[in-house]
Order: sequence, then C-alpha cells, then structure tokens
Amino acid sequence: MTKATVAGKAIEVLFSEQKIAGRVVEMAAEIKQSGLERLLVVSILKGSFIFAADLLRALHGVGLAPEVEFISLSSYGAGTTSSGEIRILRDIESDVTGRSILLLDDILESGRTIAFAKDLMTARGAAGVEICVLLDKPHRRAVEIDADYVGFDCPDKFVVGYGMDMAHGFRQLPYVGVIAG
Ligand code: IMP
Ligand code: MG
Repeated sequence: MTKATVAGKAIEVLFSEQKIAGRVVEMAAEIKQSGLERLLVVSILKGSFIFAADLLRALHGVGLAPEVEFISLSSYGAGTTSSGEIRILRDIESDVTGRSILLLDDILESGRTIAFAKDLMTARGAAGVEICVLLDKPHRRAVEIDADYVGFDCPDKFVVGYGMDMAHGFRQLPYVGVIAG
C-alpha cells in the first residue's frame, strides 16, 4: 500500500487520486442514465466539497446542466464518532419544490446525515431525492437508507482526505487514506 507523510503523520492511501478520478467519471455516466430532470445537486458540507467540485465537472462532461446548492450539516464534533444529532449549520437557498434532488456526501455511515437531508428535501416538496456518496460503510448503518450511487465500498476505518477531515485536518489530500501513525 502506498504511504505518504502529511503533517508528520504516516498515511496509507486507500483510494488514489487516479482511482477516484476514474470512478467519478463513471458515476457521472450512471447519473445521466437515470434521466433526472431539472437536476439540483445538493452538496452536504463540509466533507463533500471536493467530491462535489469533481462530480459537477464530470456531469458537465456527460452533457448534464445541474444547478448546485450547499447545505452544512453537523453530526460530528471534533472527534471521530457521531453524536447522532444532526443540526443545520447553513441551509440551501433554492426552492426545491418539484425538483429532482441529488444529495451528495462524502461517506454514508450510520445514514443519519443523509436520512435527515432526504427527509428535509422531501418535506419541502422535492419531486424526488437520490443519494450519491463517494464512500459507503454499509456495516455501520443505524438508519435504513442506501445510496443510489456509490463510488467505493469503504473498509471500517476512519478515513481522511479528498474533503474528509480528522479534527479539521487532512481535507486537502487529493486521495483518501487512513492515518497509520
Ligand atoms: P453518518 O450520518 O453516520 O452516515 O455520517 C456521515 C458523515 O460522517 C459524513 O458526512 C462524514 O462527514 C462523517 N464521517 C463518517 N465516517 C468518516 C470517516 O471515516 N472520516 C471522516 N468523516 C467521516
Ligand atoms: Mg460530512
């Protein structure tokens, strides 16, 4: 496994920059297949910002013209375990009534974050809500919910990089990795 040293920590690379880039293009093609109309991508901050930036350009590459919104939800404090309670830190601005929503997140773990966002969009009158995540940790689910589009199955490890943080650090890494020590 490739190793890197970042901020004095050894990182094991799980999903390389090239591997992610290839998969993002495939996911855009899968999303196009579903024929969603008046597509509004809702990126869940902060963790999905790099994924959103790459996926949006890939969606353009397959001929789609989505709009994009950002919602900032929080379930984690500075630690590595979910508190279970989801809060809206910053809401979207668009009216979602009658729109097809594609929710984007970095990781689907307990499912609480995505379930909260899906319920919120549905309650506001979205025509449909689909879920797209870069990583799925299916063995960690606490809420019955699955993603329509998954980049990769993720081992049951705390991962960082490509937008994902540990205690606010490591979001800048162009790959997804595990802190080895
Ligand atoms: P859920 O609500 O338990 O599904 O948690 C999903 C959220 O937890 C994601 O949006 C991530 O921001 C965060 N998260 C879950 N696992 C990890 C991880 O391994 N590294 C960094 N963030 C994670
Ligand atoms: Mg997150």
